[in-house]
Formats: sequence, C-alpha cells, structure tokens
Amino acid sequence: MSLIIHVGNARAQWWKEHLQTLLPEIPCRLWNDPGDDTAVHYAVLWKHPPGGLLRFPNLEVIVSMGAGIDHVLADPELPRHLPIIRTTGFDLTQRMREYVCLHVLRLHRRLPEIEAAQPRREWLQLVNPPAYERRVGIMGLGNLGADCALALKAIGFDVAGWSKSRKEIAGITCFAGDGERRAFLERSDILVCLLPLTDETRGILDADLFAGLPKDACIINAARGEHLVEADLLAALDGGRLRAATLDVFHKEPLPEDHPFWDHPKVLVTPHVASLIDPVAGGKAIAANLRRFIEGEPVADMVEPGRGY
Ligand code: NAP
Ligand code: GLV
Repeated sequence: MSLIIHVGNARAQWWKEHLQTLLPEIPCRLWNDPGDDTAVHYAVLWKHPPGGLLRFPNLEVIVSMGAGIDHVLADPELPRHLPIIRTTGFDLTQRMREYVCLHVLRLHRRLPEIEAAQPRREWLQLVNPPAYERRVGIMGLGNLGADCALALKAIGFDVAGWSKSRKEIAGITCFAGDGERRAFLERSDILVCLLPLTDETRGILDADLFAGLPKDACIINAARGEHLVEADLLAALDGGRLRAATLDVFHKEPLPEDHPFWDHPKVLVTPHVASLIDPVAGGKAIAANLRRFIEGEPVADMVEPGRGY
C-alpha cells in the first residue's frame, strides 16, 4: 500500500522525503515518479490535475495538503465516494494569526501612507484612533477565523465575526447567516476574509459587499482568490470607496507579471504565504491523520461529506 503526493512546486522533494521519514512503512512517491498505480491507497494533494485520480483504482482516502479542500473538489472527475481529510494544526493557526495581526495593524496604523511618504522625506504624523475604536470584521469563524478574532481582541481591537452557524466567542460580536451580513459589514472598518471557497462564497468580495462597508474601509483576503471580484476591487480602490487591500491569494497563482495589482499604490500583494504549510509541521499533521485513518480511529480533520468545506 503506497502513498502518492501531488504538490507542484519547488518543495515537492522535501515533502516526499519528509513524509517518507514520518511514514516509513508506506512507500511514498511523487505524482510523476514511476511506480505501480494499483498499489496507491493514499493521496496527499495540492491542486492535482483534474481527472488525475482515476489512475489509482484502489485509492481509499484523499488528504488535502492544506486547510481548504476547494482545490480537491474542483476536480470534475473526483471519485466522490472517497473520504477527504484536511490539514489543520497549531502551526497553520499560529502563522495565520501572525499574518492577520501584522496586516490589520499595518492598515490600522496607516503604514502604507507612511512608507509612501518616506521617499518624499515627508514627516507624515497621522493621528490614528486607538485599536478599541477600530472595528475589525472577520468573515469565517472556523479554526483560523476564530483564532485570529481572539488575537486581534487581545491586542485591543473591536472585533466581530461572521459565520454560517451561530457562534459564541467571548469578547467577539458574532453575526451569523445572510440575514446578519449587512449589519456585520456596516461595522467592519477592516474586513478580513477567512472563508472557505464554496459555491456560496465564490465572488463574495464584490461591489455590493464593498458598498456595505464603512467609507475608507480596508480589506484583507487571506482565503482564496476566487472570493474576490478583482475588477470590483480595483473600481472601489480607484473610486475612493476603499482605502487599501492586502491580498495573499489570487485567481491565478503566481499572480501574472502584467496584473494591475502588482503596482497598484493601494494594494499589497503577498504570494500565498499567509499560512504556508511546510513539510515539517504539515507533514506531522498529515502523517498523524493518516495513521488514525488506517487504524480505523476517528480523524478530527475528516471533512463532513457534502458540506463542501
Ligand atoms: P473552517 O474551519 O472550515 O472555517 C470556515 C468558516 O467559514 C466557518 O466558520 C464557517 O461557518 C464559515 N462559512 C462557511 N461558509 C459560509 C457562508 N456561506 N457564510 C458565512 N460563513 C461561512 O476553515 P479554516 O480552517 O478556518 O480555513 C478557512 C480558509 O482559509 C480555508 O478554506 C482556506 O481557503 C484559507 N486558507 C488560506 C491560507 C493561506 O495561506 N492564505 C492558509 C490556510 C487556509 P460555520 O462555522 O458555521 O461552518
Ligand atoms: C492554504 O491555502 C490552505 O488551504 O491551507
């Protein structure tokens, strides 16, 4: 029984070696390595080619090399009966918390304007409200969103969150469902998207949503590129409706060289690194989940069938 890995980047060999060390009894190979496809029972995937899993008739489980499973579900020929395990864990949460706090603070303290003033040798003393007067809204109160909400609250921000089902999180104003979306947006000076990508959330960051935010609001998208309607964002920034955007994820990654986001003065581009999973910490979580699956024990990261995230 062997394991196949698809990760289309420079860290592929590192992933293979690390998973092999963590799972010595299971031969691990990369997608294009030669081997017996009928022996493959486990697949660890990041953006595999559509239809590619049909090569493995004895596959038992799919592991998403990440918290999101949208890249797995995007395959129209996905063997739908297979269970899917996503990857979560302390390191993933820690890294996202660092990213979100860093960028909320950057926008709150208006660092983009101060950095832009430096080459002009301009002594730009901006007066900021204290954090308790800055309202931050987190879209998605799952593993990552709830953790970020609490971290921002601990810094002193006035934090709210929005999720599908109702949450109760101490110190956080929680909104739920489409009916409460407007009220949530109205009080989000800095909006952070940590939603999963589903049919319900695709394109959610659009002109209509921006119009519901306070004037001069900022957005941070650390979820998926397809949440954002890019043209609507450019129009909202250029029209002065929004003050700034921090984007970690894009429709096409890497972001094409000629994309207008690269040199837009109100956009900060980060290369999908908000919480980049690495073979050491990520490998440990994946190996632990696979072992539990193989031993027939419950796996907390098992995706509920049909939920879509
Ligand atoms: P999660 O635990 O599944 O949480 C998702 C949250 O979104 C839940 O609170 C869920 O509500 C809410 N939600 C889902 N559909 C909704 C809808 N239609 N309306 C309102 N709320 C909705 O996910 P997570 O682990 O926190 O991860 C979130 C996403 O972050 C991932 O899917 C991935 O796309 C992204 N991510 C990005 C990076 C990066 O490096 N940029 C790294 C890791 C993850 P309920 O609680 O009611 O279900
Ligand atoms: C990264 O984007 C993830 O889903 O973990």
